[in-house]
Amino acid sequence: MKYHDAIVVGGGLAGLRAAIALNQHNVKVAVISKVHPIRSHSVAAQGGINAPLGNHPRGMYDTWEKHAFDTIKGSDYLADQDAVIRMTKEAARRIYEMEHWGCPFSRTPEGRIAQRPFGGAGFPRTCYAADKTGHALLHTLYQQIIKFKQAAERKEMIIYEEWLVVELVVEDGVCAGVIALDVMSGQLEAFHAGAVIFATGGVGRIYGNSTNALINTGMGMALPYWAGVPLKDIEFVQFHPTTLLGKNILITEGCRGEGGVLLNNKGERFLAKYHDSKKDMEVAPRDIISRNIMHEIMAGGGFNQSYVHLDLRHLGEGKIDQRLPGIRDICREFAGIDPVVDPIPIQPGQHYTMGGIDCNTEGETAVKGFYAAGEVACVSVHGANRLGGNSLLDTIVFGAIAGSNAALYIQGLEGKKGEGALTDVLKRAEERINTLGKSGGGEIPVDIKVALNKVMDNKVGIFRDASRLREAVNDIRILQERYQRIKLNYTGKRGNFSLVWALELKGSLDVAEAVVAGALAREESRGSHFRTDFPKRDDIVWLKHTLAYFTPDGVRLDYKPVNIGPFEPKERKY
Ligand code: FUM
Repeated sequence: MKYHDAIVVGGGLAGLRAAIALNQHNVKVAVISKVHPIRSHSVAAQGGINAPLGNHPRGMYDTWEKHAFDTIKGSDYLADQDAVIRMTKEAARRIYEMEHWGCPFSRTPEGRIAQRPFGGAGFPRTCYAADKTGHALLHTLYQQIIKFKQAAERKEMIIYEEWLVVELVVEDGVCAGVIALDVMSGQLEAFHAGAVIFATGGVGRIYGNSTNALINTGMGMALPYWAGVPLKDIEFVQFHPTTLLGKNILITEGCRGEGGVLLNNKGERFLAKYHDSKKDMEVAPRDIISRNIMHEIMAGGGFNQSYVHLDLRHLGEGKIDQRLPGIRDICREFAGIDPVVDPIPIQPGQHYTMGGIDCNTEGETAVKGFYAAGEVACVSVHGANRLGGNSLLDTIVFGAIAGSNAALYIQGLEGKKGEGALTDVLKRAEERINTLGKSGGGEIPVDIKVALNKVMDNKVGIFRDASRLREAVNDIRILQERYQRIKLNYTGKRGNFSLVWALELKGSLDVAEAVVAGALAREESRGSHFRTDFPKRDDIVWLKHTLAYFTPDGVRLDYKPVNIGPFEPKERKY
């Protein structure tokens, strides 16, 4: 059994920022990551990170209050206002911290951090590093991790790369640690810890048409869910308006922030036809633009009934190369077109999970010593619809908060507990893996995954209704039965990705089941959750958070109030 004062699961932005905060408090920390940290999905974030820096060159002045209002309105009033205020008040400090740690933000001619307009923001508030902001931030934090590793004499900063956590161990409501599989050796190991922070990202890959990396299976949500921690607002799934046709690679909102326009098959800027996007056009919020693209395609305004154009040609080669070089590369590599001379074929695709592990503004969950941060967590700052640029901010603000709080918790602990529970759970995990290895069933995990993707794409998408959601419930039940008969196509110990995918597939199925249950129960439309059979927001019944609990018989739903603060819920008009 290994012991570390703190374990952070996930090596993306939230995880690395939490690890740094722990080390800054002189706590010994180990990061366990499925992949090398700089291959975490944070690296794929493109367009930017929001903060009210108040340094816009034209002398306009932004404030945390404006940022908080835009975020809460964008969330369709489902965000907890104390959480949003905490995030927006800390935003500028965290951006300057990243700048001082070396993040190469793009600059204004005066040398200040440049900011571009993003959807639903009344102000150009999105700081960026061209269109590779996640890449720049993640590498900056990883450099800090290396610095901390080298400086750590009393402290400790260990990274376990390519280890899959397979159990969260809880005894009497207190977190004891995790069980993890060393993918390369095939060895299972118990990790005893004073505190555990999950920062494992979202569950995008329950969908097929997703901007997410294949590693975003939702296992990091499934583990606490199985251990009794509820998932909050899990039915709220964000669809990004502009993903590359067929491949669903993200085509950043930064394209529209820089002046790119959406065109239908007549060459019209069709967003002008829709009441909720006619004012802000291409920088309306994501939920609205995604729906209006789909409306336009359904009304016959699309190409091949499946896509519209994002046109950047008028921006010119110089601006495209300076501000959107990654987009030009993606278009050339994956679509064989050049946005300098060709419009980009785009369609909406799954992008983000607003819901996640239920936690408060301190990153604390219902289990003592267990914390969550980043996309896996639901604090909740994004409510029913996240504004672009707020997820990177969420990772570094709440990563730092969760890390600091976990450090204080560990420093107050008396003695180590939970070794017995870890030994028992390790034995159970070994048995589960042995049984999987011996299974003589005929089901191949990838077939079940592809079938799940189809169900989620076709029945739990941008437009939802009771009949298709009920079908999705049944379809997933059948997939759960098929899962009982899966067979690994490789049973060796070393580098067994057949085993890894089979283990994670169970997590994907169970979290998908919670998404569908929450969506079917919520008989209203709010933010990203649009029910064609209940097209209006209903604050009287539904201004509340969903809590989904795992039971062996399926999902149990409960609800809790939203923390309303100074911003009174109003009709969301743009
Ligand atoms: O469009 C984008 O660059 C995505 C940003 C985000 O999801 O925050």
